[in-house]
Amino acid sequence: MTNWTTTSAESADANFDKSLPALDRHDLESAPRLRSSVTHFLHPNIAAIGEAAPREGRLIVVSNRVATPRDIRPGGLASALKGALADHGGVWFGWSGEIADEPRLDVQSDPVYPIRYATLDLDRDDYEGYYAGFANRVLWPLFHYRLHLLDFHRDTLAAYRRVSARFADRLVDFIQPDDTVWVHDYHLIPLGAALRSRGVTARLGFFLHTPLAPPELLVSLPQHRDLMSAFSAYDLVGFQTATDQDSFTRYCEQELHAEVYGDGRLRVDRQTFRVGTFPVSIDTAHLEMLGQRAAAASATKRLQDSLAGRDLVIGVDRLDYSKGLPERFQAFGTLLNDYPDFQRNVMLLQIAPTSRSDVPEYRELRHRLETLAGAINSNFAEPDWTPIRYVNKSFQQARLAGFYRAARVALVTPLRDGMNLVAKEYVAAQDPDDPGVLVLSRFAGAAHELPDALLVNPFDTEQVVGALRQALTMPLGERKRRWLRMIDHLRSHDVTAWRANFLDALRNCRACVEPDRIAVGRSQRGAM
Ligand code: F6P
Repeated sequence: MTNWTTTSAESADANFDKSLPALDRHDLESAPRLRSSVTHFLHPNIAAIGEAAPREGRLIVVSNRVATPRDIRPGGLASALKGALADHGGVWFGWSGEIADEPRLDVQSDPVYPIRYATLDLDRDDYEGYYAGFANRVLWPLFHYRLHLLDFHRDTLAAYRRVSARFADRLVDFIQPDDTVWVHDYHLIPLGAALRSRGVTARLGFFLHTPLAPPELLVSLPQHRDLMSAFSAYDLVGFQTATDQDSFTRYCEQELHAEVYGDGRLRVDRQTFRVGTFPVSIDTAHLEMLGQRAAAASATKRLQDSLAGRDLVIGVDRLDYSKGLPERFQAFGTLLNDYPDFQRNVMLLQIAPTSRSDVPEYRELRHRLETLAGAINSNFAEPDWTPIRYVNKSFQQARLAGFYRAARVALVTPLRDGMNLVAKEYVAAQDPDDPGVLVLSRFAGAAHELPDALLVNPFDTEQVVGALRQALTMPLGERKRRWLRMIDHLRSHDVTAWRANFLDALRNCRACVEPDRIAVGRSQRGAM
């Protein structure tokens, strides 16, 4: 089997300054030498990391994207992670979003909270192989059940492993034994193993934001066992839905001969770890407040005025082939064609900020959508009515909340989606006295939690058209009943509950796996 944990020597890169400080690590063998040689490279506040740490240890969040204080549009999830970091004190580590000939680590502190943001540049080869290559042309389509889009190359796999190793080389200096490290998403699956091989015995948790395909599809990935067994380096692996967790467990049983215990523990390659389902959510109270406030905002009013009494159907998605946008446009065109009464009386606003435009499939999708929207508009438009408004830019959450509230229907029809927070945000932003209707793909994780939406199969155009008609004509009483059940659920299952559940589970499961981890830490340190 390929070793996903690559040694430091393998991952060494002349462009990286590898002499960063070891900050109060438990394996201090090399720390003094490193510390004295690089003080000049330190952010002035980095030495304070750990000093204000609560006794239970700090939180280290690792994700490909980091929402630094400079980020003017942090999403709901970014705010939630920041909230967790603010509560515990800690570090948010990841890619800087920059491509540089000489990648640098930048560390900045939050102006308000005890949080440090440590971000690393990628060089061009790593960006292309890791991000634009293996993560987004192999794992993304594979995990979204789209095998025909898989573009596997050994060199992009090597870049993917290399970036985890590079991250681990830097991250290890920030981790103390009592810390909890929480790694996010498919970009960084091998990071846990890379940290363990560098002697880290701290609690490690992983959360997969995307779906996970069933084992029958996962085995299409060359060297799939190496990737999938890397999950066992974590103490806890979290999924969005029971279906994803089940796919993982079945994979481990079938391909890795895992022992599966009834309580969520798995044993793979002499490592015991836990798996669990933790559906990610939104800051429900905040979205409700934004929706209420935005009702009177000028941007909302301008949108409402422009509708001239017509019903608005809204879609908000990153421009991604998993979101089912061509199928959605086609369904809307079919509604207008088959039920002409809706012509002139309804409008689709599709907000779709462009994304991953270095990946060819995303550029092709953009072209396809422009053609489709153009065809539908030219077919049905009137001098005073355009059926589809297709907007390729992003908006702040406060503005979106007003758009959601102005929309009679939200059309959230991904072909496959880990969760889909737009579905939840739409519900939370509604006017309780006159709520709109959510039409939701049964293949979005959110469908597991929101059975009171109109659930559809996005591949079935007639069914989507039927749901649109039902939504646009639904009586107020039924809209309110459905909405109340959904908002009740979202109030008690918000993003704060999500992160608390995950972190509690991670802290509690430590007791069951600790002996294994300590053994791994010792043997691997000995081997280094
Ligand atoms: O939801 C999956 C995800 O890849 C997130 O990890 C990421 O923040 C988001 O989509 C946006 O994608 P990207 O970082 O590739 O622009």
